[in-house]
Amino acid sequence: MCGIVAYIGSRDATPVLLEGLQRLEYRGYDSAGLAVVASGGLKVRKTTGKVRELEAGIPRRFKGSPGIGHTRWATHGVPSDTNAHPHLDGAGQVAIVHNGIIENATELRAQLESEGVTLVSETDSEVLAHLIARAGRPDLEDSVADALNLVEGTYGLAVIDSRQPDRVVVARNGSPLILGIGDKEMLAASDVTALVRFTRQVVHLEDGEMAVLRADGYRTSTLDHRPITRAPSTVEQGQASYGLDGHAHYLHKEIHEQPEAVARALSGRLDRRFSTAHLGGLGLDARDVAGIRRIKLLGCGSAYFAGRLGASLIEGLARIPADAESASEFRYRNPVVEPDALYVAISQSGETADTIAAVRELKRKGARVLGIVNVVGSTVARECDGGIYLHAGPEISVASTKTFTSTGVALALLALYLGRIRDLGPAEGRRIIDALSEFPDQIRRVLDTEADIAGVANRFNQSADMLFIGRVSGYPIAEEGAQKLKEISYIHAEAYAAPELKHGPLALIGPEVPTVAVVPDDALYPKNLSSLAEIRARRGPVIAVTSRSDIPDVEATLLVPRSEPELAPLLLGIPLQLFAYHVANSLGRDIDQPRNLAKSVTVE
Ligand code: G6P
Repeated sequence: MCGIVAYIGSRDATPVLLEGLQRLEYRGYDSAGLAVVASGGLKVRKTTGKVRELEAGIPRRFKGSPGIGHTRWATHGVPSDTNAHPHLDGAGQVAIVHNGIIENATELRAQLESEGVTLVSETDSEVLAHLIARAGRPDLEDSVADALNLVEGTYGLAVIDSRQPDRVVVARNGSPLILGIGDKEMLAASDVTALVRFTRQVVHLEDGEMAVLRADGYRTSTLDHRPITRAPSTVEQGQASYGLDGHAHYLHKEIHEQPEAVARALSGRLDRRFSTAHLGGLGLDARDVAGIRRIKLLGCGSAYFAGRLGASLIEGLARIPADAESASEFRYRNPVVEPDALYVAISQSGETADTIAAVRELKRKGARVLGIVNVVGSTVARECDGGIYLHAGPEISVASTKTFTSTGVALALLALYLGRIRDLGPAEGRRIIDALSEFPDQIRRVLDTEADIAGVANRFNQSADMLFIGRVSGYPIAEEGAQKLKEISYIHAEAYAAPELKHGPLALIGPEVPTVAVVPDDALYPKNLSSLAEIRARRGPVIAVTSRSDIPDVEATLLVPRSEPELAPLLLGIPLQLFAYHVANSLGRDIDQPRNLAKSVTVE
């Protein structure tokens, strides 16, 4: 699961590739490399570590075009200089970069070795370079097609050959690949973020397709050589900024962007006249909605937690039975797909392999699937029947913050829309609309308390373990809070439904194990106080996240403004993001690129 980028044109490819790699680094980052075609043949540099380490080792004479680059997140073979991409054939003429997994790599390696080919790395990807060289056809694209016909698995692939410097060949199957059309230059990458600095005109390849890029244009076809025409689309990035804008980390920047991100998610979608939501992209009319008997939300990681929150919003406001499941589990259990169920796939990137697989399985079984997606034109967005775009702007830091909150808001809009077609009265609809309208400002007020939150984070940053608890819609917020803390600070954090404490985890409680409690001011408030009393009785320190300033006997309170019960849990999630950030920052962690993780998990 990696990032790839390719360039052909009159410029020197090296700086273009390095810039593209920097943009892609959040996808994976244990090693990086690039190759360019120069007059004397291929020039290749690769290294373990980050793109800036690659850049530091590149000599000034390292120039050429076309070129390909890669940032790696290891699946097969440890991170090492040899396992880093690009991979070359034995003669050093063909270079490839690959994102995905070649499933029959073991057999292909054995076959190549029996023919006398020496493979130098432990990767599954290297076989591609040798297979392409072995095909030996006059045109590189034909060699690539021959090689890919032998391969089982997934790939986003870019290939150059020093003997054919007029072209780059790219192909896609199961891993994203997007072409960028410049002025007498062409690019390709696994994510538009690597392209937007150079062009806004893009073409999304579909699975089973390849393209030949030349400086003055491109040709797309299927792997079996049937030409296809794909019209370019224009990437709308608005005012999106890819820089740090004065923040120390992208995570910090993205936490602070939430008021604007939420305002964009709401923009044009609140219908005060009918006390409902305008969601033009859903493609569901009132009759469709009346026929829905069940809703299932699917996603991975933070998207799954947001889905759990969404399920309780939908049940609460629309009274439609709803539940969420992790897409990675759903896809493997041969799920029963009901004809009157609505499925909602949630994915910030729209490229998470498990979520895409779940969508495809559902579509194959005839289900209606909506997508809640941030990246416009991504695979989930394209393959769903309709959906809601978040418009949160690019999220670079691996840990999700603004897209989690925006997804929660999108799901509240969906719940409102469904509710107003079912049994939710106009006064109730208005109450939700008013709460949503105030939401960006309430987030701002939480962000203003950052110094207090940082103070609490510094008091607890030496803990080895923390528990996070919440009830009903507070529970997914506790789960997301625990996830943020563990992924960026590496402190062990576990979330539990508060009533479950006494069924096991209470055994862990003591002065050394702080509990972060999500305590909305709602009907369950007295029940939450009882849970806190159970913890205090075992001398466990409590950090309460709440809009109530009068919770007795707690070590610290992270205070938020009061909000309607439907939105309160989402607001309580904001201090937990800042808490995790400041704990991680005080421990000097690599906040934007935590170890072993990648933002966009495009492999199984
Ligand atoms: C990865 C990321 C998580 C993210 C999940 C789903 O695991 O590290 O932060 O929540 O993927 O990503 P998606 O793009 O589908 O929302």
